[in-house]
Amino acid sequence: MKESVNKLTETSVNRIAACDTISDLNDIRVKILGKNGELTAILKGMKDIPPEKRPEAGKIVNEAREKLEQAITSRQKALEDAELERRLACEKIDISINTNTLPVGGLHPLTIVRNRIVDFFSSLGFIVADSPEIETDYYNFEALNIPKDHPAREMQDTFFITENILLRSQTSAGQIRMMEKVKPPLKMISPGRVFRADEVDATHSPVFHQVEGLVVDKGITMCDLKGMLDLFAKKFFGESTKTRFRPSYFPFTEPSVEVDASCSQCGGKGCRVCKGTGWIEILGAGMVNRNVLNNCGINPDEYTGFAFGAGLDRITNIIYGINDLRTFFENDVRFLKQFD
Ligand code: PHE
Repeated sequence: MKESVNKLTETSVNRIAACDTISDLNDIRVKILGKNGELTAILKGMKDIPPEKRPEAGKIVNEAREKLEQAITSRQKALEDAELERRLACEKIDISINTNTLPVGGLHPLTIVRNRIVDFFSSLGFIVADSPEIETDYYNFEALNIPKDHPAREMQDTFFITENILLRSQTSAGQIRMMEKVKPPLKMISPGRVFRADEVDATHSPVFHQVEGLVVDKGITMCDLKGMLDLFAKKFFGESTKTRFRPSYFPFTEPSVEVDASCSQCGGKGCRVCKGTGWIEILGAGMVNRNVLNNCGINPDEYTGFAFGAGLDRITNIIYGINDLRTFFENDVRFLKQFD
């Protein structure tokens, strides 16, 4: 019997080792150790062995069973490990691979500052209006109190499409469009692109940007203009910023002013940025000219208003310390990346 057990054990161990699926291994287990298994059959034959030899025989069979069970368990573990390895290998996610094949861009500095300006004025109750970049002579000049032969046209030479259609030289054209549609009280800003026939250099560009502001109501005075611009300057250039008005001239405002903010770089002492003056010009403004109100069907004896036109490029320059307008339009990613 010992021989047949040893033989069975040996062939079984080989079969177990050669087995390469879990279900095959289960079949083998049943064939050897199951109810009708080969080892079980030997065990059943014990009754034919003389009683004195039974303990010895039992020991042999039990040892064989243990050996085979161990072989099955370790083979099963090996097969399970291999299966796990296989799954891990084929389900592997390589987290080091960058799935962003397109680099993510950022907002252009002019857009960032325009958005901030829009937020600021919206919070004061201004509506935000769009206005066409291609304008008629009437909206860009005539209705703004700049008739055909007015010398003020000289400063705003622009690109003409026909004699009467042009690329707007100022967002002030939007004032007229707004006042024609909306009667006072009215508070609006209108940011956008404007055009002038200028040569490109560090401070000039044929395309640049303005933000127009307009408030019309009963009893609006220059104090309102000053107060609001003061708030604006403090918000954008720092709490300690002061503003000052210098007399100026625009045909569509009377009186007209240039507005300066104290230089945020030197605090007003005078430096390279403010060219030693302590002040930086930020916008043009004034009280809406009576003729302009009349042109829009608003009674100037009943209503007054103020308007301002700020250079968005200039304000962005001041905020970020940029000294060359061309960087805005060259689309050099090394420049643009700094504003991500
Ligand atoms: N439109 C003027 C310019 O482009 C600025 C301005 C706007 C001045 C509104 C006064 C009132 O220079």
